[in-house]
Amino acid sequence: MGRIRFVTGTDTGVGKTVLAAALAVQSVADGAATCYFKPVQTGLQPGEPGDADFVASVAAGCRAEEGVRFAAPLAPAVAAAVAGEKVDAEALRLRALDLARECDTLIVEGAGGLLVLLSDAVDMADFASGLDAELVVATRPTLGTLNHTALTVEAARRRGLDPALVVCNWPAEPALTETTNLEQLKEMAPVIGVIPAIDGLDVESGGAPATPVIVPA
Ligand SMILES: Nc1ncnc2c1ncn2[C@@H]1O[C@H](COP(=O)(O)OP(=O)(O)OP(=O)(O)O)[C@@H](O)[C@H]1O
Ligand SMILES: [Mg+2]
Repeated sequence: MGRIRFVTGTDTGVGKTVLAAALAVQSVADGAATCYFKPVQTGLQPGEPGDADFVASVAAGCRAEEGVRFAAPLAPAVAAAVAGEKVDAEALRLRALDLARECDTLIVEGAGGLLVLLSDAVDMADFASGLDAELVVATRPTLGTLNHTALTVEAARRRGLDPALVVCNWPAEPALTETTNLEQLKEMAPVIGVIPAIDGLDVESGGAPATPVIVPA
């Protein structure tokens, strides 16, 4: 069974997919057979490129797979309900474990934040626990991140998870807000590093003008 890393975020749109791509790039460069899995993708029609397509395009050599997809741009369990369906969280867990058996490193990306419901009974924290995964939390560097991150770290620890942080979209010229936020975040949990902002990067349109990397902070 390969190493499993579960990527969550302090919010939606924080940079989970960019972080997952950076982890995948690093893992492939380390010579590890690498897979990425997005159990539930919401907000897209069939055929539209999703988070898995972005990771596959950025991290050459990483196998990327999507589980199920719902068109409504909502939390997975809610988007499924709107479509008159239910998410089979156990089937997705078993699929993730199959992938983990086929590679050295599996990177799983949740949706939204840690307590968002994947199915009616399983939230992202439950799903990460069910995979015995390492939890990696995508955080913002900007104002507001201290509260969001503290809430996520506390909730993760209460559920027996041991979160590490990555600060996403790190500005080229950090101001007092970002530099002091980084120091405060280091007090909350281990910070793996920061991902420098890449001008023109847009996950939804599939464009990455440069390869995202995690720089130790
Ligand atoms: N390192 C970065 N450099 C530049 N822009 C970034 C970076 N990280 C994130 N962004 C911006 O934030 C947007 C959202 O990032 P991303 O799709 O990774 O978030 P997410 O947390 O995966 O969102 P979702 O909850 O929809 O899955 C990107 O399209 C991009 O515009
Ligand atoms: Mg994403």
